[in-house]
Amino acid sequence: MTRTATWAQRAAALDAADPLAPLRDRFLPAPGVVAYLDGNSLGRPVAATAARLDAFVRDAWGERLIRGWTETGPDGPWMEWPERVGDRIAAAALGAAPGQTVLGDSTTVLLYKLARAAVDAAAATDPARTVIVASAEDFPTDRYVVDAIATERGGSVRWLQTPLAGGVTPAQVADAAGSDTALVLLSHISYRSGWIVDAPGVVAAAHDAGAHVLLDLCHSAGSVELDLDAWAVDLAVGCTYKFLNGGPGSPAFGYVRRDLHGELQQPIHGWMGRLDPFTMGPGYVPAAGIRQVVSGTPPILAAVPLLAALDLLEEAGIAAVRAKSVALTEFALELVDAWLAPHGANCSPPANPSTAAGTSRSAGPASATSSTRSGSAECCPTTANRTPSGSAPHRCPPRSPRSTTASPSCATCSRDARQRSSVRRRSRKTVSRQMPWWRPMRSRTPSVRNPADRCSATAARFSGKIDACRVHRPASSAAVTWRWMSALPIPRPRSPSPT
Ligand SMILES: Cc1ncc(COP(=O)(O)O)c(C=O)c1O
Repeated sequence: MTRTATWAQRAAALDAADPLAPLRDRFLPAPGVVAYLDGNSLGRPVAATAARLDAFVRDAWGERLIRGWTETGPDGPWMEWPERVGDRIAAAALGAAPGQTVLGDSTTVLLYKLARAAVDAAAATDPARTVIVASAEDFPTDRYVVDAIATERGGSVRWLQTPLAGGVTPAQVADAAGSDTALVLLSHISYRSGWIVDAPGVVAAAHDAGAHVLLDLCHSAGSVELDLDAWAVDLAVGCTYKFLNGGPGSPAFGYVRRDLHGELQQPIHGWMGRLDPFTMGPGYVPAAGIRQVVSGTPPILAAVPLLAALDLLEEAGIAAVRAKSVALTEFALELVDAWLAPHGANCSPPANPSTAAGTSRSAGPASATSSTRSGSAECCPTTANRTPSGSAPHRCPPRSPRSTTASPSCATCSRDARQRSSVRRRSRKTVSRQMPWWRPMRSRTPSVRNPADRCSATAARFSGKIDACRVHRPASSAAVTWRWMSALPIPRPRSPSPT
């Protein structure tokens, strides 16, 4: 029997034993897509979405018209959807009790609202708490939002430097957060490396310093099991268009721990978050509980596909989704070892069972922190200034934050930038020759002007194909099969003879 046939047999056996296999047909087919591993960007539509949207337009919107806001329909009055859908997300994906999660806005807007609320609350009790601790490798919107809040409130951001293939550790947070810290903002799963932050550890470190923690759950919700209440997380936000399969532009969710509802006040005071909005009364009086996080008219139509997707996630259960993700990942890593490693490809982060996704990755390499005053970087927030674990970061000379090249006067920066761009050129050539399925990704590459970012974006896209199934998984990957994965059109290495 050939090696390929052996893999195919194993894949077929794993598919046959998959308890989620029957759910695959509950997703719309995507003709021509062999195995969709981009759920970390946009989840697949569940098949029931089209009928659900049609029924909503005809029956709910079309027939009930404005009465839909207040009359009870199959999913409750629209006015209550922010809390009702929030509670469903909380139960299915967040490990949170009801009454603490709302749906609405985008992740960016909710990040701003909750981060500003935390910063303002901290300053109100202690004016010395003006620092936000955040990761220099976090998703751009998170970095921009904390920068903007620091500028707006006269504070600063203390950036944590992390390896591109790793992420933030509790020890780093303990080092960086102190009596001047208002807020620690982190992504629970790194969008680049797939690193899973030790959430309880990070929360404990931040709380020891008297700071609140805001977790970005964009890559976690619907992907891994979360336990926000038990971890004592203060605040969280996340999108619903990735692993919650809500569709392009579906609304985000925000979580505020119950005991903070009276203490924190978000800054965008709109009529829909007011106590009794239809009195149209003077002045803003926040609604009780989590409702105060709502600002304007809830995005009802945009939430309809999410309801169909939540039905499916509730049926599958997040634990089963995660278990399948881990199992698919292990199989994918075996295939990488067997088929790609002989071509020189490797996994990022390294495929070490004790640190790889699919297992708990709570400890990572320690790295130094650097403090930057908002808007004036003292230290390149790129891989250029990273040093091996534990040593002090290389400090590049000050340069304009708009600079698109490594600092020409810095030998380390320039050398690293040259090396990165040559690796990038080589890996693009090799990868697109050996993995034709990867090629279309290139045409979707956003133009990133900073060469260091461009390089890491390339690496992330490549490793992301592995990470997507490795750390992340499937509500969509209820739609992925092992057979499909083993059928990816990757050419076999020429050297090893069939066994
Ligand atoms: C980790 C993370 N945070 C925030 C965002 C931005 O979310 P939005 O565009 O919904 O504001 C994204 C988008 O992909 C993300 O991956």
